[in-house]
Amino acid sequence: MKDIRGRKLTLLLRKEEINRRVLELAKKIEKDFKESPNFLIIGLLKGGFVFTADLVRNINLPLQVDFLWVSSYGLSMESSGSIKILKDIDTDITNRDVLIVDDILDTGITLRCIYEFLKMKNPSKLKTCVLLDKKGRRKVDFKADYVGFEVPDKFLVGYGLDWGELGRNLPEIYAVENQ
Ligand code: PRP
Repeated sequence: MKDIRGRKLTLLLRKEEINRRVLELAKKIEKDFKESPNFLIIGLLKGGFVFTADLVRNINLPLQVDFLWVSSYGLSMESSGSIKILKDIDTDITNRDVLIVDDILDTGITLRCIYEFLKMKNPSKLKTCVLLDKKGRRKVDFKADYVGFEVPDKFLVGYGLDWGELGRNLPEIYAVENQ
């Protein structure tokens, strides 16, 4: 049985399920962006780094990758309601076709802020892709264009998601139990 700092982890998504869904999303994205000559994928750090890495390796198109480092939770388990940009992208996205990739859509605050922030840089196309969607937790209205799995309102860890900065390296996704 797995645990982090004594908290029991319950398996939610096996790595085979994740891999299969990542491949499906990649093929959809490939179809939708095949006419994009200047395709750029922006992964959100830190949580989105594993999903972004797996997704881009399954998209068979010429593309560039950049990262935006953004934080909302600090070290607590609850969203603080505001986000901080810790590192902006290095790329000029004017007139480019851009896909933002993140691990999870929860209250929607992060992706909506980032969407608005990047929209001001005048990309020609701006879409969003998340592996996990906690639909029931939304505080602001936001719908991602590509969603891997709808997940229950539990604290999740693994495949890039952390609990107090631990667990990002787990290949599966787990729920952290209360005791
Ligand atoms: C997490 C996650 C998303 C965001 C989603 O990031 O990676 O970016 O929260 O939550 P929201 O929809 O309620 O805004 P976090 O701020 O925990 O930082 P991390 O990516 O470094 O784990």
